Amino acid sequence: MKTDKNISFQYKEFDTAEELDPADHELLTSAIKVASNAYAPYSGFMVGAALRLESGKIITGANVENAAFPSGICAERTALSNASSNHAGDNPVALAIAAFSKNGDFVESVSPCGNCRQMIIEEESRNGKNIRIILGGKFKVRIIENGGDLLPLQFNSDNLKVNPH
Ligand code: THU
Repeated sequence: MKTDKNISFQYKEFDTAEELDPADHELLTSAIKVASNAYAPYSGFMVGAALRLESGKIITGANVENAAFPSGICAERTALSNASSNHAGDNPVALAIAAFSKNGDFVESVSPCGNCRQMIIEEESRNGKNIRIILGGKFKVRIIENGGDLLPLQFNSDNLKVNPH
């Protein structure tokens, strides 16, 4: 029997960053600021990510590229690795992302890549806490309440469990 299924999720969209809660606005400002520290000589695409931890602390990261292209790392995973390594137990609850193109333009609401989504959902399941995703953009700011919404039918630790016959 064939069944058609549907997955959808809701997110919020704001016309300006000024409409955000002060804490989210601060987080996005941190992401924008750290983007200028990106090392992106190959793509010219400068990305900043800022994580809010449960304690209120903000941990940031920028993308770091490499002549061996796959060795580079995205801003989101830089920030997540930093938080996990240096602030263990202080769980991330929000992640803001901002990016600037080669010509220095604030780009429209950039979304995390697949690898970063995978790392975000691992962090969520490890801590049992949703991570709110704040996508900064030139014209719009989008908020997704749960990183897992960005990765439907995800691969996670449940898939590694041995199926009983
Ligand atoms: N990049 C990020 O840092 N985060 C994203 O969400 C998308 C892509 C980086 C990777 C690479 O250094 C450059 O942007 C172009 O893909």
